Amino acid sequence: MNTYPNLFSPIKIKGLELSNRITMAPMYVGYANPDGKVNDLVLEHYKKMGASGAALIVVENMGIDPSGLGSPFMLRVDKDEYIEGLKKIAHVIHAEGAYAFAQINHAGRYAYIKDRIAPSPVKIWDVTPKEMTIDEIHSMIEKYGEAALRIKKAGFDGVELHGGTGYLLSQFLSPRLNKRTDEYGGSLEARMCFPIEVLEAVRNKVGDDYPVGYRLLADELFPGGFTLDEAIIFSKAYASKGIDYLSVMAGTHESFKMPPYVEMERNEGYMVSFAKAIKKALPDMLVIAAGRIQTPQYADKVIKDGEADLIGLARVLFADPLWPKKAKGEITEPIVPCNPSCSQCMDLIMKGKRPYCSQWSREQRQEFLKKIEGKN
Ligand SMILES: Cc1cc2nc3c(=O)[nH]c(=O)nc-3n(C[C@H](O)[C@H](O)[C@H](O)COP(=O)(O)O)c2cc1C
Repeated sequence: MNTYPNLFSPIKIKGLELSNRITMAPMYVGYANPDGKVNDLVLEHYKKMGASGAALIVVENMGIDPSGLGSPFMLRVDKDEYIEGLKKIAHVIHAEGAYAFAQINHAGRYAYIKDRIAPSPVKIWDVTPKEMTIDEIHSMIEKYGEAALRIKKAGFDGVELHGGTGYLLSQFLSPRLNKRTDEYGGSLEARMCFPIEVLEAVRNKVGDDYPVGYRLLADELFPGGFTLDEAIIFSKAYASKGIDYLSVMAGTHESFKMPPYVEMERNEGYMVSFAKAIKKALPDMLVIAAGRIQTPQYADKVIKDGEADLIGLARVLFADPLWPKKAKGEITEPIVPCNPSCSQCMDLIMKGKRPYCSQWSREQRQEFLKKIEGKN
């Protein structure tokens, strides 16, 4: 018997037939080598995710240019030499029966290097980034396109542009962070130019038949920042340019630490209302909702009520990589929930360490720590 008929109903993204509505939302784990290359730890992790029963795994954000790396352990896609390693990730996911997409990103003012570039020189913690020149903007647009083509060549089924978490694409959209007076800044229409031209460059390289999704920052949740009203206008413009889905999130690295966000983030489905608003404004667009979707009951209801078409699990799947199979009843053990008052995965990442989950069993943790011995 199918207890969750909505969650386990098929859906299509472009030509791809997904057997259920469960996706892995991209989650940076920093298991890559310091040179951005794929290793056994990365492959084991994505094999496990591929075997979870989720129909689609969106692999964590990968750097399109050395100036935009969010950390030294980020997967990279800025040169052809990375394609061979990336092929192995797509392969382990496919071998477990899931589709594989990859997310591409430039961190802009959130890059981990000191000499950062951004739409405007708005200070971030103790660093003031350099304003991108028009030539740098044009060259970065091309780099998104080239990176997307490498993802396609590596055998991934689709590519996702990282417009979330306050990274470069969303920095251009933000009235707080984009103070430019040229054609890339000012009105919302002008602020939308960079992400729109990135999508055009990506389409130009991968073609119209290849699935291209967008991680949407629906609200910066920061005074003076990009708001949901603007996100709806932007989403409509993006939809008309040929995006295949919007994966909705809210907040940036600056809002994540603010008390109202910390409070909100403990609640089940804390970002679903944003996905619902986007879905309501664009009923024909495929929308993915994420944010502590802990139980299959709740996930099923989100789909049934039309708040989103698919759900994205990040920490939830990291805590229990058998969540989808348990939800389906293929495994009868209870789901191990992500602990809402724990932020161990994020805390370890912020310290540049390879994360594990506090909810893993003692054996799982010991096995993992043995594997990374001498690496953390
Ligand atoms: C450690 C960590 C890494 C993340 N990395 C990414 C990423 O690479 N790309 C992205 O779009 N979102 C990223 N996110 C956000 C998640 O995709 C997701 O939206 C958020 O964690 C809520 O889902 P969850 O409650 O199931 O974790 C990350 C979140 C965490 C906690």
